[in-house]
Amino acid sequence: MATTKPILPTLSFLLFISITVASCQLAPASSDDSTEASFVQCLISKSNPSHPISKFIYTPNDGASYSAVLQAYIRNLRFNTSSTPKPFLILTALHVSHVQSAVLCARTHGLQMKIRSGGHDYEGLSYVSSGSPFFILDMFNFRAVDVDIETDTAWIQTGATLGEVYYRIAEKSGVHAYPAGICPTVGVGGHVSGGGYGNMMRKFGLTVDHVADAVLVDVDGRLLDRKSMGEDLFWAIRGGGAASFGVVIAYKVNLVRVPELVTSFSVFRTLEQNATDVVDRWQHVADKLDDDLFIRITLTVVNASGGGTGRTVRARFLGFFIGDSARLLSIMKSDFPELGLAQSDCVETSWIKSVLFWSDLAISTPTEILLNRTPSLTRLKRKSDYVKKPIPRDGLENLWKKMIELQLPGMVFNPYGGRMAEIAADATPFPHRAGNLWKIQYLANWNEGGDEVARRNVELTRRLYEFMTPFVSKDPREAFLNYRDIDLGVNHNGKGSYEEARRSYGVRYFKQNFNRLVRIKTKVDPGNFFRNEQSIPVSPH
Ligand SMILES: Cc1cc2nc3c(=O)[nH]c(=O)nc-3n(C[C@H](O)[C@H](O)[C@H](O)COP(=O)(O)OP(=O)(O)OC[C@H]3O[C@@H](n4cnc5c(N)ncnc54)[C@H](O)[C@@H]3O)c2cc1C
Ligand SMILES: *[C@@H]1O[C@H](CO)[C@@H](O)[C@H](O)[C@H]1NC(C)=O
Ligand SMILES: *[C@@H]1O[C@H](CO)[C@@H](O)[C@H](O)[C@H]1NC(C)=O
Ligand SMILES: *[C@@H]1O[C@H](CO)[C@@H](O)[C@H](O)[C@H]1NC(C)=O
Repeated sequence: MATTKPILPTLSFLLFISITVASCQLAPASSDDSTEASFVQCLISKSNPSHPISKFIYTPNDGASYSAVLQAYIRNLRFNTSSTPKPFLILTALHVSHVQSAVLCARTHGLQMKIRSGGHDYEGLSYVSSGSPFFILDMFNFRAVDVDIETDTAWIQTGATLGEVYYRIAEKSGVHAYPAGICPTVGVGGHVSGGGYGNMMRKFGLTVDHVADAVLVDVDGRLLDRKSMGEDLFWAIRGGGAASFGVVIAYKVNLVRVPELVTSFSVFRTLEQNATDVVDRWQHVADKLDDDLFIRITLTVVNASGGGTGRTVRARFLGFFIGDSARLLSIMKSDFPELGLAQSDCVETSWIKSVLFWSDLAISTPTEILLNRTPSLTRLKRKSDYVKKPIPRDGLENLWKKMIELQLPGMVFNPYGGRMAEIAADATPFPHRAGNLWKIQYLANWNEGGDEVARRNVELTRRLYEFMTPFVSKDPREAFLNYRDIDLGVNHNGKGSYEEARRSYGVRYFKQNFNRLVRIKTKVDPGNFFRNEQSIPVSPH
């Protein structure tokens, strides 16, 4: 029974949607009761008796504990409302056999599974589903981080957070690191499988450029490693979004060497303090600087000085240097003197303390804070773009006017170049390598609840994105998978799903790698069990 493929998977899926859309309108929180009951029975009967599964199953009947588990990893409060579609069940898997049962039973019951690790998906795709009844396979119990300094490697389970990974590395060595994302609460599962980056990317490339092995549960419930899954599937889950291919249990990663002291800095310039000149100069140097140096710009609208009602744009230059401040200052003096970086701006710390600095925490904070899984939460919208040539100066000036007009959305510029430009665009599914000066993240954060406020803030973000059209990549207008953006389009996973994906998000996220992802998907999951609103479709042929 375990490996029986559904007959006519596409057709049965379509029927399934049409039935459940109707029932959804009556009872948004639940699917067909008998399917649910039978699914739970299946989970229990399939699970290994030495690892009983029932106490890891939560349904709305469990009341407060169900809500608490659901909310525990909602990282975008935009999706913490009473009208947000809810799973009919959450499985907080503790053992691999639980994951295997979940896949096999969901498949035979035609149910949609959402996989959640750290819950940081910007559009909530790991815990929300539009349309069909779904359950969450919650991976937060898979959080072991096993660092082996002898071989410069670590096995990291997907439910671990980046903060936990960094802390466990630093516990064993002050000169090892892992080049991954900046926010410590981000989960390994989505981050690594989506191609994560951090402030060492110009030196070491992406998170996925340092993955050596992986363990995954496939659509037939088999537990596979790199050797048994083969190089194609192993390639796909390093940037193609693993949720289209299987459930990743753990990644084996190669650590990198860093010096005992690294240097960080944060320097602000408003328009009145010549921000335009400095940003303009940054555009021409940021991707060409020494590979040890990464300077991010964050642009926000703030009150102008003087206490009036005037607004200005403030650029924050947030720097990370894999070396000491003396060498940093000499590089800055020769290559980017316009920023006027001074010794007093430089903060020399161990690498692990630099993680605190980059999280806007005092560097005196005990590093145990990195084990804290709960960030401060708010409502978020993100979009992304790639810039291939500098924005003309009048373009920058108009951008500031636009930002001041819109008020809310900010922007983050993350420089490329260095190692990023050396790795081939098809080495991993992440295609945005050589030829990019920087990536833009558009960001809107807000605290006030309500659909109307959310709609307005999302709209403001779209307008800034619209304004940027002449300055960013086109054909396709590229986007970063880990900055999940539902505006690019969604897949209904029916007939025509290949075209639906290709035309909307497929080529934007993956460029020429999209078709290889589709071929791999078609081979490993022809029935499209592992699907979501922006998953890799199967080939139409
Ligand atoms: C505050 C914040 C800061 C961020 N900073 C950075 C950054 O510095 N660099 C960067 O690159 N990105 C960054 N991101 C984006 C982040 O990398 C992505 O949102 C990432 O997908 C989150 O992973 P997660 O496990 O927390 O998310 P989840 O929401 O749990 O998962 C995201 C996606 O991956 C799938 N998935 C999760 N686990 C598994 C698994 N075990 N097997 C198969 N599929 C799985 C989910 O189904 C979903 O489709 C940031 C996001 C936030 C909210
Ligand atoms: C999410 O919503 C629930 C229900 O309204 C609420 O109790 C909870 O505090 C919210 N979570 C956060 C972090 O605001
Ligand atoms: C801004 O530029 C002007 C003209 O080059 C210069 O006189 C002034 O000192 C600069 N201001 C700052 C804060 O750098
Ligand atoms: C900015 O100015 C507005 C009034 O124009 C005021 O309400 C707000 O508190 C100010 N913000 C900050 C951070 O000072």
